[in-house]
Amino acid sequence: MKSDDKKTFVTVDPKKASLQEVHKLLLGGVSPRPIALVSTISENGVNNLSPFSFYNAFGANPPIVVFSPARRGRDGSTKDTLNNLQKIKECVVQAVSFDIVQQVSLASTEYDSGIDEFVKSGLTPIDSEIVQPKRVAESPFQMECKVQQIIALGEKNGSGNLVICEVVKIHFDESILQDGTIEPNLIQLVGRNSANYYTKAFEQSIFEIEKPIATKGIGIDNLPEHIKHSEILTGNNLGQLGNIEALPTQEEVHNFINSYSQTDFTETDIANIINNTDYHVVYSAGLSLVSSDKKNSLRIIEIAARNALEQNDVVFAIHALLSLEYKTA
Ligand SMILES: Cc1cc2nc3c(=O)[nH]c(=O)nc-3n(C[C@H](O)[C@H](O)[C@H](O)COP(=O)(O)O)c2cc1C
Repeated sequence: MKSDDKKTFVTVDPKKASLQEVHKLLLGGVSPRPIALVSTISENGVNNLSPFSFYNAFGANPPIVVFSPARRGRDGSTKDTLNNLQKIKECVVQAVSFDIVQQVSLASTEYDSGIDEFVKSGLTPIDSEIVQPKRVAESPFQMECKVQQIIALGEKNGSGNLVICEVVKIHFDESILQDGTIEPNLIQLVGRNSANYYTKAFEQSIFEIEKPIATKGIGIDNLPEHIKHSEILTGNNLGQLGNIEALPTQEEVHNFINSYSQTDFTETDIANIINNTDYHVVYSAGLSLVSSDKKNSLRIIEIAARNALEQNDVVFAIHALLSLEYKTA
C-alpha cells in the first residue's frame, strides 16, 4: 500500500486541556455532523427554534433521534430549547437543506426566551398533527417527536444534555424521493464542520461504495503480498480488492490475459499510455513489457488496476494484478 502519508500525532488529555480546546477538537474531528432544526414551545406558548448538530438517529423501532443542547461554555447556563423541553416534552426535529441554511444560522442567535425565532429567521410555522410545537414549512423533512428521556451529562460549563426523542410522525416533501429512497441531490442537506464551515451533502460531495458482499470478502490479509505492498495501490484500492469472494484461478487469469491482443509498444507509446484514461490500453502496454522489463511491467499494470478500481471495475483489477504472477508461473 502506498505509504507516503506518514502522520505525526498530537495527543490530548481532555482532563488537562481547556474546554474551548476540547470543544474545538470535537467539532473538527466529529464532522460533518447532521443538523437538527428543533422547534419547541414554552409554557407561555412562545415558539422556539434552534439548530443542534450534536445530533443523530439511533434506531428505527422505535424510531429514536437524539440531540444535545449543551450548557453554555461561558457560564454553564442552559438553553431555551432544553428549558422548554423540561416542561413541555414535545418537539419537531427537522432536516436542514442548503436553501434554508442562512435562516437556520440566524435562528441560532441567542434571542431572549420571549422571542419567537420563527419570526426572527423568517421561517414559516405550520401546525403539527400530534405535538404542540410548530413545524418549519421550508424544511423538506420533519419529525414530530415526544421526549422519552433527558439525560444530563454533567452540570459544568459545556456539559451536554441528551434529549432522547421518539419520532411519532414523519412528514417529507414528496419531491425528495427517487425510487422510494431519499435522494441526496434532491433533499440537498447540509452538515456542520468546525469553525464556520458547513458541508453540502450533495453533488460533488456524494459518491457510492458498494456494501461488503454478504458471502464475506477474502479480506486484505488474503491478497498476494505484491498487491498488499504495492507502492501504487492505495488503502481504498486494497479495501475494494479485499471485498472479492475469491481470487480468480490460474486458468481464469490466463483466459483474461489471452483476451488482450499482444501488441508491441514503443517506449514513447508507453510513456504516453500511462496517462490514458482507458485502463484496458494501459494494461496492454504493461503486458507488452513482461519479458523485457518486468519491474516496469508490474508498475504499469498496477496503474491500470488502480484506474480500474477508481471506476469500480474490481474484476478487471484483480485479474490484471495477478497477470504477472500467473504469466510467469
Ligand atoms: C449549525 C449549528 C449547530 C449547533 N449545534 C449546537 C449543538 O449541538 N448544541 C448546542 O448546545 N448548541 C448548538 N448550536 C448553538 C445553538 O443553536 C444556540 O446556542 C442557540 O442560541 C440555542 O438556542 P435556544 O437558547 O433557543 O435553545 C448550534 C448552532 C448552529 C448554527
